[in-house]
Amino acid sequence: MLQTLQADITQLDVDAIVNAANSSLLGGGGVDGAIHRAAGPELLGECRLLNGCRTGEAKMTKGHRLKARHIIHTVGPIWNGGKNGEADKLRACYTNSLRLAAEAGLRSIAFPCISTGVYRFPADQAAQIAVESVRAFLETPCSIQTVTFCCFSEADRMRYERLLEA
Ligand code: AR6
Repeated sequence: MLQTLQADITQLDVDAIVNAANSSLLGGGGVDGAIHRAAGPELLGECRLLNGCRTGEAKMTKGHRLKARHIIHTVGPIWNGGKNGEADKLRACYTNSLRLAAEAGLRSIAFPCISTGVYRFPADQAAQIAVESVRAFLETPCSIQTVTFCCFSEADRMRYERLLEA
């Protein structure tokens, strides 16, 4: 099942939340900063052992002080006009995050709107890529039962609602 929600992703009770991180995996602003604050300093300790993460790839940690059992850290592309493989890299973020969750046998996962904040990916195109890549991944049976698009703004929630109705 695909659903959308307007919420602070750090508060969700799911098997995994996805973090829109940067390649250092050592924290930052936006949703990344919120996740590190809510999960506590043990998260940074675990992230230091991961040796960073390339754009489009994903790595998993424990959820630490979050209700969510795991955090999947992925690095979205920085928007640079759209002709530098940004769409493919964003698709890879969703697919690689789902692959990690499925390999761990997880049932529920929540995504933020990856790359649409500091990294400036256009929101409409990003939401289309998010929904398309999740739908494509779930065509093959796996452990994942619920995927939540966790929007921070009402505009994003409405954008996803329109796409999920289609
Ligand atoms: N819960 C859900 N969504 C949130 C939350 C939250 N608590 N806080 C912000 N958002 P951004 P990016 C939304 O900038 O564009 C960081 O510094 C926000 O409204 O967090 O991928 C990293 O370290 C937006 O829709 O991530 C990287 O350096 C979405 O999350 C860089 O920013 C993504 O915005 C990554 O940039």
